[in-house]
Amino acid sequence: MDIPRPVWFDRARRRQQLDEAIARSQQAAFGFRSMPAQEKSDWVRRHFDRVAPRYDFMNTLLSFGIQYAWKRQAIRLLGLQPGQRVIDVCGGTADLALMAARPIGPRGSVVVYDINMAMLRHGRPKAAGAGNGARIRFVQGDAEAICFPAGHFDAAMVGFGIRNVTRIRRAFGEMFRVLKPGGRFLCLEFSKPVNPVFRWLYDVYSFYIMPFLGRVCVGSWESYACLPETIRLFHLPDELSALLAEVGFQRIAYRRMTNGIAVAHLAVKPEREPPAPG
Ligand SMILES: C[S@@+](CC[C@H](N)C(=O)[O-])C[C@H]1O[C@@H](n2cnc3c(N)ncnc32)[C@H](O)[C@@H]1O
Repeated sequence: MDIPRPVWFDRARRRQQLDEAIARSQQAAFGFRSMPAQEKSDWVRRHFDRVAPRYDFMNTLLSFGIQYAWKRQAIRLLGLQPGQRVIDVCGGTADLALMAARPIGPRGSVVVYDINMAMLRHGRPKAAGAGNGARIRFVQGDAEAICFPAGHFDAAMVGFGIRNVTRIRRAFGEMFRVLKPGGRFLCLEFSKPVNPVFRWLYDVYSFYIMPFLGRVCVGSWESYACLPETIRLFHLPDELSALLAEVGFQRIAYRRMTNGIAVAHLAVKPEREPPAPG
């Protein structure tokens, strides 16, 4: 088996994932595999079809349950208020949506928005079981073309999903569009641990042990080999902040969790549109 080296790519390679580079080359990456941009969403859909039935179990196992603490902390940082309308983009099996349902209360609502029906199907009973069925809606759709009008939501969030989207800037642009002026934004994503020793341990764990557990638990080495690969190609926290600023967000800040394995970016859509250039 060809095991990739656990490298953290340089800025140039990471920038290849930006929309204009994809438009120029017509190539996108999913993990270390390069593929025609129009094929990537099919690839991602097939990947999540395969892992959906055991997605929650595997996430809990692979993160030793820490992912729930990251998600809870990120939702607290988002500072949701009673009655707010929230969209959980790439919402999958609705973990973040379920956590958001509490602070927004019975007058609020959350849309779990995901391209993959199998993932949404596994989220629906969780919402119903938590007594939040009425507050949480499930909508299938592409993050690159969100099917809601501009200014519809008070908050938009994306958790561990933006790495899988082909045109990341376009998806952030869509989240910006559907937010009201003053609306709050959260992106929770994996990143590069700060401490070199911890990073080395994390590399060994994520490149060798995680795929092994993937093979044992879901019969697929590949499904969990591509997870660390997509993380190594993803923007580092300052690069992601710069991208969010290009999209138009303001008051961008981020918080590292567990030595930087996960990072929560927070931002706000300005109350007023910046004046058009010229
Ligand atoms: C790793 S899961 C994260 C799920 C959930 N947010 C969580 O934190 O557990 C990534 C999700 O992104 C979804 N996804 C990937 N590309 C997408 C796209 N272009 N539009 C909407 N959802 C997408 C996948 O179907 C999958 O459910």
